[in-house]
Amino acid sequence: MRILVTGGAGFIGANFIRHMLASHPEHQLINLDNLTYAGNLENLKGIEDLPNYTFVKGDICDRQLLHGLDFDGIINFAAESHVDRSILDSYPFLQTNIFGTQNLLEHAKKRGCRMLQVSTDEVYGSIEKGLFTEESPITPNSPYAASKASADLLVGAYHETFGMDVLITRCSNNYGPYQFPEKLIPLVISHALEGRAIPVYGDGTNVRDWLYVLDHCRAIDVVFHRGKAGEVYNVGGINEQRNIDIIRKILTRVAARTGAAADGFQGLIAYVKDRPGHDRRYAIDPSKMEREFGWRPMTGFEEGINLTVDWYLENREWWKHIISGEYMQYYQTQYGGRLTE
Ligand code: NAD
Ligand code: DAU
Repeated sequence: MRILVTGGAGFIGANFIRHMLASHPEHQLINLDNLTYAGNLENLKGIEDLPNYTFVKGDICDRQLLHGLDFDGIINFAAESHVDRSILDSYPFLQTNIFGTQNLLEHAKKRGCRMLQVSTDEVYGSIEKGLFTEESPITPNSPYAASKASADLLVGAYHETFGMDVLITRCSNNYGPYQFPEKLIPLVISHALEGRAIPVYGDGTNVRDWLYVLDHCRAIDVVFHRGKAGEVYNVGGINEQRNIDIIRKILTRVAARTGAAADGFQGLIAYVKDRPGHDRRYAIDPSKMEREFGWRPMTGFEEGINLTVDWYLENREWWKHIISGEYMQYYQTQYGGRLTE
């Protein structure tokens, strides 16, 4: 199969391409990515020259470009993915996440091919008790989540209207190698290593469910190959944690790995003004994935977080390069008013 993987230069997309090239060498992968601030070809170092991998620089919204590509399946990772940025400026979110998805759907329709939309648990909004199931209502709260929910609705509409072979996965928070340092876990690790303040939104007790990125990649792989057209599949880590607990665990691990005192980095924690509309809790029920495919998370949180801390320690050049560029401008806009370092 020739699979068009969009957004393959980002965090999850790059991990997915690596996973697929190792597990399914029979497929040809075409990575379509327009290399926004979050797209980084360094994430794909070492695989560029493989005969079954091609990179195309381009925008998923570009109709002509899509017309010229040859593929018989689509997996759509391409998105604006950061909630905080969607609060600062939602235009690129609606453009890529909604119109980009619609363009891919049109091209999948033309080719009569399968398309998997990589979505998020954020489309369900916040939940106080219990778990999100695939039947939970869609009640997104941030512009990012609303744009992803809109895309999901379009995918569902193309299935009902045109009988298209489409699938949706909705996953909880990922962590692991190659995650852009604006997101909580790499932000904490990189700030600790640089002795910088660690901004904790609100009181730090918001809850997220965390999944190691390779487990997410395995889930997408199995859904793409075996999922039923028109279905939604929830993917999660069965691993709910409060932000402050995650932060403390990471700081303890960084201390252990760098030979600092066990509580040597805890003083960097700085409570700051909350994210507007901050969802209180995400908690997802991934039992359909286990029932239908025998999928479950394989990487425990302690193992995953240790692997992640080690990766950021061993790949300082990768993230230092990122945070030395235009990222600092964003950082100043996002945190400048609420954090004095
Ligand atoms: P990311 O921001 O790290 O990567 C996004 C990639 O998409 C980048 O390489 C970027 O250059 C590319 N891109 C953006 N706009 C594009 C466009 N118009 N055309 C082509 N390429 C474009 O994101 P991520 O964290 O890897 O997330 C990937 C997908 O998974 C997203 O759809 C996101 O909503 C979803 N998701 C993420 C998480 C998470 O915890 N990170 C959890 C669940 C779902
Ligand atoms: O749930 C899946 C979603 O997880 C994905 O769809 C998104 O693409 C991905 O970015 C992620 O969204 P979150 O908003 O949950 O992730 P983020 O890393 O931005 O924040 C995680 C939690 O940490 C959240 O409660 C906000 C908090 N936080 C975040 C940052 C960046 C802080 O307390 N301080 C920070 O500086």
